[in-house]
Parts: sequence; structure tokens; C-alpha cells
Amino acid sequence: MARKPSAIPTQIFLLFLLIIPITSTTGTNDSSQLTNMVVYLQEKTSAPNATEVPVAGIAGNLWSFTSFGTIYVVDDSLTTTIDRNSTQVGRARGIYVASALDGSSIYLSVSVLFTNGFFSGSTLELQGTSVLASQVGEVAVVSGTGKFRFAKGYTTYETVFVDTAAGFSTSRLNITIYSDMSPTLPIIYETMNVIS
Ligand SMILES: *[C@@H]1O[C@H](CO)[C@@H](O)[C@H](O)[C@H]1NC(C)=O
Ligand SMILES: *[C@@H]1O[C@H](CO)[C@@H](O)[C@H](O)[C@H]1NC(C)=O
Ligand SMILES: *[C@@H]1O[C@H](CO)[C@@H](O)[C@H](O)[C@H]1NC(C)=O
Ligand SMILES: *[C@@H]1O[C@H](CO)[C@@H](O)[C@H](O)[C@H]1NC(C)=O
Repeated sequence: MARKPSAIPTQIFLLFLLIIPITSTTGTNDSSQLTNMVVYLQEKTSAPNATEVPVAGIAGNLWSFTSFGTIYVVDDSLTTTIDRNSTQVGRARGIYVASALDGSSIYLSVSVLFTNGFFSGSTLELQGTSVLASQVGEVAVVSGTGKFRFAKGYTTYETVFVDTAAGFSTSRLNITIYSDMSPTLPIIYETMNVIS
């Protein structure tokens, strides 16, 4: 998620490689469950069909991740594997803001809207600081809706594929959350197999 100050913003491929719910022994509610998801985010920064576009910035300045004040709007595809043409499981929609005066990081606020399978219609809210120089970034999962009500956790992300000429990149997101999903573990696990 835009970890590099390069001309090619990080593409994030959301791929559900593996979703393994594990009964948690911690959390605020005994029914709280730990879920790990791996998805791939596909991000395109150049036309045609760019999925990440700078829409505002300080007049007279170049709009970029390292230029304080620049705002990007994002609508990236989330897929089950690193292949951009693999099954789409959702969209990552939100904003990136170049909020560091020294250009070292951006602020992001992104809703992950699941559009396929068991979690279709449910959302997770990602929010935090993305340090551009980091090999692996991490932001908070502040909450969610639908199947992810009361969710909380974090996600790491790292670029796993870059096509500079096409302005395209893929990132792997490892999402780790506690949530109060009411279905039992076996049902969730079977459903995830259906998705992938
Ligand atoms: C935990 O969550 C379950 C399911 O929503 C609920 O029925 C139960 O009352 C909750 N327990 C506590 C202690 O909050
Ligand atoms: C851009 O999106 C349109 C509408 O979905 C599609 O018809 C077109 O093939 C896409 N162009 C490229 C180069 O992917
Ligand atoms: C995936 O789709 C893109 C755009 O339609 C296409 O250029 C590319 O060849 C496809 N990749 C594979 C592995 O099918
Ligand atoms: C994300 O998950 C994949 C698959 O389990 C793993 O190979 C990778 O090391 C993880 N990345 C991070 C940053 O934890």
C-alpha cells in the first residue's frame, strides 16, 4: 500500500491464499476468534483503468506520495492468488494521504469490501501510517461490519510483484483479526475453502 516513493505506487493484490480461523484463548469475549487471511491486492497507477489516482494536492507542487498534501483515491481489486486474473474476493476502496512533511510516510484509510463468498457484503476498515521505506508495512484493522462486527487486529503488506512498464503492482496482505463471528469454526473453514 504505497510504501515506496517511486513513480509506481505499490500494487496490492488481495489474494485469499489461506484463511485459517483458530479458536482464541484471549480477547474480550470467549467467542472471539482469531482469523488469519492472506489476500492479494492488485493496484494500477497508470492509465488506462488506473485503480489508484491522485486527485488533489498543493497547487504548484508535483502530486506524489512524498509530496505533502497529495490525496489519492483508491479502488483496487482483491484476489485469491498473486495472479491478477484470479478470483476476485473484494475491493479495497479508500484514500491515501501524503501526510508527512518530510515525505517519509503516508496515511491511509481503506475499506475492504468483500464481494464474493461467505464474507460477501462484510467489510474491514484499515487505517494507519504506511512508512514508505519499509519492506513490510503494517496498519491497524480498526473494525468491521457484517461477519466482521467488532473485528480488531492488524494487517501486514508487502509488494510481491511489480510491472514497472504497466504501472502495475501486486501486494500480499496478511490480515490478522479477532472478531466475534457467530458461525462455528468448521462452517467458516469450509466456506473459506469455497472462496479460494
Ligand atoms: C460474547 O458474544 C456472544 C455472541 O455475540 C454473546 O452471546 C455473549 O453474550 C458475549 N459474552 C460476553 C461476556 O460479552
Ligand atoms: C478498461 O476497463 C474497461 C471497462 O471495464 C474494459 O472494457 C477495458 O478492456 C479495460 N482496458 C484495459 C486495457 O484493461
Ligand atoms: C491477466 O489479464 C491481463 C489484462 O486483461 C492480461 O494482459 C494478462 O495477460 C492476464 N494474465 C494471465 C496470466 O492470464
Ligand atoms: C504472509 O503470509 C505468507 C503466507 O503465509 C507468508 O509466506 C509471509 O511470510 C507472510 N508475510 C508477513 C510479512 O508476515
